[in-house]
Amino acid sequence: MKRKLLLAVTMCATVAALVAGCGDSGKTGGGNSVSKDDKIRRPLPPPEYADKTNPTPDAAEEGKKLFANHCVTCHGPNADGDSPTGKALTPPASNLTDAKLQDAVKDDYLYWHIAEGGKALGYNGMTPFKDTLKEDQIWQVIAYIRSIKK
Ligand code: HEC
Repeated sequence: MKRKLLLAVTMCATVAALVAGCGDSGKTGGGNSVSKDDKIRRPLPPPEYADKTNPTPDAAEEGKKLFANHCVTCHGPNADGDSPTGKALTPPASNLTDAKLQDAVKDDYLYWHIAEGGKALGYNGMTPFKDTLKEDQIWQVIAYIRSIKK
């Protein structure tokens, strides 16, 4: 009985070490804050989203239209978070053009956050889009976001 417990504890510690290790070596994770005012912790996406890559990285034009229809209310017309609605939220809607943010996260993180909304990170501000946008539309929006990095 005691042995089993010890084994379980050892396994947990190993898993925790592995997860922490992944967080350090991957682009996302580690709670990367992208500016001094930025309180958002960005963990690695869960397994069902991890390592997804964009099948349509050149679809920025299509993505721009979708962004105008679904995202500007909060992220603003320039995607920089400059909108009264977005600023009123806690935390406020992110500046998606920010090179520091974009360099800190991989596409799998962006997909996860857009599909699940703020609840991916434990926030309420952003609505999930997995029932509003199709998978390829989410990728088009991500292509657009990647094209406006500043
Ligand atoms: C109702 C307001 C609202 C709408 C609409 C909205 N967002 Fe957001 N978004 C937020 C807020 C608030 C945050 C910051 C808090 C959080 O991470 O959930 C955020 C964060 C994000 C992030 C994570 C950025 C980071 O700092 O890690 C991405 C990516 C994102 N939004 C993309 C989109 C896209 C693409 C759309 C349209 C399909 C969209 N959002 C629509 C409010 C919104």
